[in-house]
Amino acid sequence: PGFTPSAERGRTLFTGSPGGGKPDSPSCTSCHGGDPRQGGHSRAGKPIAPLAPSVVPTRLTDAADVAKWLRRNCAEVLGRDCTAAEKADLVAFLISQ
Ligand code: HEC
Repeated sequence: PGFTPSAERGRTLFTGSPGGGKPDSPSCTSCHGGDPRQGGHSRAGKPIAPLAPSVVPTRLTDAADVAKWLRRNCAEVLGRDCTAAEKADLVAFLISQ
């Protein structure tokens, strides 16, 4: 209730190193890079397409896929699930890119 997603908070979480996760993936940017309009690399070196829907229109269109990857990636970076508020902020940030 009363919650409004914030792209700015999403950016801070995406680019920050919140701690609690795996040492070799301290940040979303560890794999996705600092700019969602650019691609990234998995730890195995596999290219990851940009997350920004403005660049890759199929991004964030499959809710089950987004939920699956956020569960996995939040565990990597934070060592826990992201809260509903954090997920909303992250998606708001990515959609704004
Ligand atoms: C260990 C590497 C790694 C880290 C760290 C990581 N990701 Fe990912 N992420 C991936 C991979 C691999 C995929 C799936 C491949 C793809 O969608 O191109 C993915 C997919 C996604 C997707 C799915 C997009 C879609 O259209 O379905 C979102 C959203 C996402 N990541 C956001 C994040 C956020 C937010 C963080 C930080 C909390 C994060 N990722 C951290 C590797 C990572």
